[in-house]
Amino acid sequence: MERPTWKRIAGAVVATAVASLIGVGCYIDNPNAAKPTGADAGAYADATSDSATVGDSGEPDADRGPPLCTKYGGYATMEKVVADLFGALVADCRVSRFFTGLTPERQAHLYDCLVKQVAVVMRCPDIRYDVDNAGAECRDMKTSHKGLSIRGADFDALVQDLVVVLQKDGVAQADIDSIAPSLLGLRGDIVTNSAPGNARVCDAGGGG
Ligand code: HEM
Repeated sequence: MERPTWKRIAGAVVATAVASLIGVGCYIDNPNAAKPTGADAGAYADATSDSATVGDSGEPDADRGPPLCTKYGGYATMEKVVADLFGALVADCRVSRFFTGLTPERQAHLYDCLVKQVAVVMRCPDIRYDVDNAGAECRDMKTSHKGLSIRGADFDALVQDLVVVLQKDGVAQADIDSIAPSLLGLRGDIVTNSAPGNARVCDAGGGG
């Protein structure tokens, strides 16, 4: 199976045929992994953030009901959300250069890991934030964003784009609100530049 590249992903979004082009099931590479319980759950939290715990085993529970992942169509929907997010990010001149400057290999790694991260936040059963589809470790948020000099406004832009994508992909506002703390809690590990505004300025050329 050919691994995704940014252009393939973004192109698929533009063609509004993301799910079918990416291929449902292509990236479901971790369906039978051990559930993140006990020490594993701690390792999972460490792998994503030094300061925030996200996701769980994906089991239904009395307080929260069935996992959002299941409610919205399963892992394939998580892939579509992240593919749509990538399309939005490369079209968003505030942050596009962070992503278009990556090699195809780094783009694919980011895509794979972000799908798993969203899947864990949405409680897809048996999915862990562990490795990309080539087996490379998905790093914690502090390590993976170190040196990128991401500003608060850059973080806000990505979150705005994600919210729009989730809305477009049919996720109810109440459910978006319920997962927001898990993502917003990562801010402290990702934002390393306290300067105002976006790091990358939108010019007449727009995104890219
Ligand atoms: C809630 C917000 C965010 C989440 C959940 C998130 C998640 C991730 C994940 C899972 C990775 C891959 C980890 C790895 O390399 O193993 C990653 C890498 C990356 N992220 Fe984020 N991210 C967020 C915010 C941002 C923002 C605001 C920017 C820039 C505007 C950004 C830019 C990048 C870049 C450029 C990489 C690739 C770094 C590299 O490969 O060297 N991220 N992110």
